[in-house]
Amino acid sequence: MSDLNQIFDEIRKSEMNDWVGGSDPEAVGDGCVGILRRYLTINASSRLLDFGCGIGRVLLSVLKHNPAVGHVTGFDIMPQVISFCEKHIADNFPQTSFELMQGSNDHYDLFIAAASESKPKSHSTLLGQYGSSFTGAYAFSVFTHLERADFQALLKLLADLLEPGGELLFTAFLLTPYSRRAIEERTALFPFGETALEDNGSIFIGNPSDRLAFIAFDLPLVEQMVFDAGLILSHVEHGSWTGSGFAATLQDVIVCRRPRVLQGAIQHVAIVPRPLRT
Ligand SMILES: C[S@@+](CC[C@H](N)C(=O)[O-])C[C@H]1O[C@@H](n2cnc3c(N)ncnc32)[C@H](O)[C@@H]1O
Repeated sequence: MSDLNQIFDEIRKSEMNDWVGGSDPEAVGDGCVGILRRYLTINASSRLLDFGCGIGRVLLSVLKHNPAVGHVTGFDIMPQVISFCEKHIADNFPQTSFELMQGSNDHYDLFIAAASESKPKSHSTLLGQYGSSFTGAYAFSVFTHLERADFQALLKLLADLLEPGGELLFTAFLLTPYSRRAIEERTALFPFGETALEDNGSIFIGNPSDRLAFIAFDLPLVEQMVFDAGLILSHVEHGSWTGSGFAATLQDVIVCRRPRVLQGAIQHVAIVPRPLRT
């Protein structure tokens, strides 16, 4: 039986900590939970999905700060991180479980190729098992590493995994007038070398030789993809990656919801007639 501190220490010792971004896993996890708590309901009734859970640092911090959370399920495409999470987290915390899902990603495929034989579940299998079941889902540093087509497809998958009214929080890099200027003037926190703009300037690639190390999308394009996935955008919190200096997060945070099913007829609210001004 390991406690949370021992598992964080196992993460610190693992080379996989570097695969998912490095830094101290507990500090990163706690930072992410600080963001989650601003937007997501986390309580004993929650059934949460940690999408692209990596080595489980955010999920562990969720357990640390909300030990009574109902259930948290982690999905990822890398067999090694799922095995790690099953061995170190699920075996010690019955309110957690993990799933290896099918998927490829240029930034992570070398790790997947190095794994021993595994049986990832397809999106349709996962939908059959978990469709419309999660009260909330989050994805930290996942949509910052996806091509546009995957961004769109995975948002749709997440929408279908949420129960009606369910909440989704994900991070991304957003192109806005401010962030575009920061990129141009080299005042963003990332030291960009050679870069590329694609799709009429709506997609920014931070390093063309490792395209998915840093990919940013125009804010209206992300709004459109959220809408096309059947979700409603509720908040955008701009991160400090632009060098703005006052943001509470590094990456940009996008919060949306799956709409509730309409019950009964629409109630029209009467407009109160007012006298014409003279
Ligand atoms: C930078 S890591 C972040 C991990 C974790 N969310 C965290 O904050 O510690 C990105 C994760 O996204 C996962 N990922 C990449 N592409 C994915 C996809 N198509 N579907 C699901 N997960 C994916 C990777 O395997 C990796 O674990």
